Amino acid sequence: MGGSNPYIEEVKYKPATKKYRVTFLPSGKSIEVDPEKIPYGHNGLPGSILDISEGLKAGLDHACGGVCACSTCHVIVREGLESCNEGTDAEFDELDEAPGITPKSRLGCQTVPDGTTDIVVEIPDWNKNYAKELDHVFLCELGFRGVKSFPGADMPPTFGWDNFEDIAIGLADKYPDTDPLTVRFTDMHKWITELTGFSGDPAASNEAKLEAIQMAWHEEFLDRQG
Ligand code: FES
Repeated sequence: MGGSNPYIEEVKYKPATKKYRVTFLPSGKSIEVDPEKIPYGHNGLPGSILDISEGLKAGLDHACGGVCACSTCHVIVREGLESCNEGTDAEFDELDEAPGITPKSRLGCQTVPDGTTDIVVEIPDWNKNYAKELDHVFLCELGFRGVKSFPGADMPPTFGWDNFEDIAIGLADKYPDTDPLTVRFTDMHKWITELTGFSGDPAASNEAKLEAIQMAWHEEFLDRQG
């Protein structure tokens, strides 16, 4: 099921039973959620804010497929938070990694409104692949100013535990004949920390992240098998 993660406690939520409205800020895009149409997408808990965003194409990003293993889907529930399920410890642990969290912050993939009131959700600018965006903006700005070289310009980009695709590509390049599903997490953890460009703290991973990385690597492995 989208949004569920076998490595964390089960999320308890009450699905909506009647229609209600979700408005996303700053775009102002709004959708009347119809319980009959849930799930709208393939990521996050059915009926979650991420799921609804996919139905509306509201642009809420996700890096882990909506399984509570990153903080990319950070949202601020400006109105109607009381109609949403309680967050779990696992959700709040991931949220701690997001910049700019507020008392109304939640992970969109784990937050399911029960439909008893309309809700208003803000998608923070900074939740969109934060580090990559910053790199991009920085480099564009330098290009815009005609700067051709700057300290560190020839350094390869780095990536951390939440950059599942980068890690998956790195592992697939280095271990092309290895079926990811046969690799123990202890070995995978070691291999990841040895990848060129990996800059994450070895102590900052957990089973949920390793599971998401293994899935991303498996997809990459299957793609390369043709
Ligand atoms: S998309 Fe919600 S935690 Fe990764």
